[in-house]
Amino acid sequence: MACPVSSGIAEDHDQDKDKLMHGLLYGEYLHLDKILSAQRLLSAEYSDEVHDEHLFIITHQAYELWFKQIIFELDSVRALFSSNAHDAHDAHNGTMNNSSANNQENGVSHVLNETKTLEILKRLNRIVLILKLLVDQVTILETMTPLDFMAFRDYLCPASGFQSLQFRLLENKLGVKQEHRVKYNQSYMRVFGRDPAAIEAIKRSEEEHSLSTLVQRWLTRTPGLETDDFDFWGKYKRSVEKMLSEQEQTANAQTKQQIKEHLLANVRSRQAVFDTIFNESLHNALVSRGERRFSHGALQGAIMITLYRDEPRFSQPHQILMALMDIDSLITKWRYNHVIMVQRMIGSQQLGTGGSSGYQYLKSTLSDRYKVFLDLFNLSTFLIPRHMIPPLTKQMKTKLSIASNGWSSDEKQNKPEDSSSNSENSLCMT
Ligand code: HEM
Repeated sequence: MACPVSSGIAEDHDQDKDKLMHGLLYGEYLHLDKILSAQRLLSAEYSDEVHDEHLFIITHQAYELWFKQIIFELDSVRALFSSNAHDAHDAHNGTMNNSSANNQENGVSHVLNETKTLEILKRLNRIVLILKLLVDQVTILETMTPLDFMAFRDYLCPASGFQSLQFRLLENKLGVKQEHRVKYNQSYMRVFGRDPAAIEAIKRSEEEHSLSTLVQRWLTRTPGLETDDFDFWGKYKRSVEKMLSEQEQTANAQTKQQIKEHLLANVRSRQAVFDTIFNESLHNALVSRGERRFSHGALQGAIMITLYRDEPRFSQPHQILMALMDIDSLITKWRYNHVIMVQRMIGSQQLGTGGSSGYQYLKSTLSDRYKVFLDLFNLSTFLIPRHMIPPLTKQMKTKLSIASNGWSSDEKQNKPEDSSSNSENSLCMT
């Protein structure tokens, strides 16, 4: 933080003095009076102070502050994913409303200016680092023994992390859907019963475009998916068919019956899996069963970016996909660390202070249900060997290269200067 005193110019004493008089001091700027007086030990109020309750409170407060920062970054990333300045403002204030949503439906936004991808990446990576910290932070609280916890646990009732508004907002803004939550968790709204502002914030977070929705719309516009142009999907399908046919031939050439059958079964099972992406209705059936999350178009975009990630223009998009997986993966790790800590503190048979079955409930949340970017994890199923990746046409290679004004040096030589104006922009990943 810039120090208001030391940043003054030495000889200008009056100015320094003025700053000192009117500028905020460290504690005032950070409202430390509020933050540092917000640790109210219930054990001290009801009986003898329990030393570890202080750590318990500080840890939760630290988590909530970091949740706030994550939500702040998340809102800004969602705003960057839509180019409309109005939406950007709304999302930043957590107030992306229905009219913004409609604008987006009309195609006014969803347009991601590629110059924003670096900023998006930077902020997603910041979220990733914060989450890493949060995963590790559990270990500090684990220095408290179950006996120490027992000494003040009864005073906490009915307070529980289940009532963390920011945690729910975070989940919703990422894209956790109500129908994917485990049963007990589907009625999480009831804990905010007496807090209309919290209910309102939750409803808004459920209605706004989540990060997942915005990412999917962006992926759908991946350059190269156009069927009347490069037609990646058609080419990729043919490569997959060729790959499976070669694998079938290899299997049939086996002399040992057992190995042959094993290999043929493997080819058939891979064929069936690939069918689920080439047949849109099979894909949609998996989406409605909650086994897949992305739209068909978004899945195509993600596969294309993954296969051609070495092309300059796909480098940052690919890193964005990795960061999204990191976020999902770190939240899962946090859930896991939290469950383990809960079992250590209260065992697996006690109810939680929030009224759930405690450990058993939390254990049930450790599933793919809560992975918003589940399809990105499963992309590896659809990878094909490098030599089978459809080669890029010269035009496509140019589209995916980064050069001044968007043209590669090759193209620049072949194109008249003025014809380069806006055409490349129209190829942007919008
Ligand atoms: C001694 C330490 C802790 C214990 C024993 C504990 C226990 C529990 C239990 C039993 C639940 C299930 C709901 C209920 O019935 O209460 C829960 C939920 C939760 N706790 Fe903790 N917790 C601890 C520390 C923390 C910390 C440090 C955080 C950080 C913010 C936290 C955040 C949460 C959240 C967000 C939930 C809701 C999870 C969900 O519904 O998916 N807990 N906790």
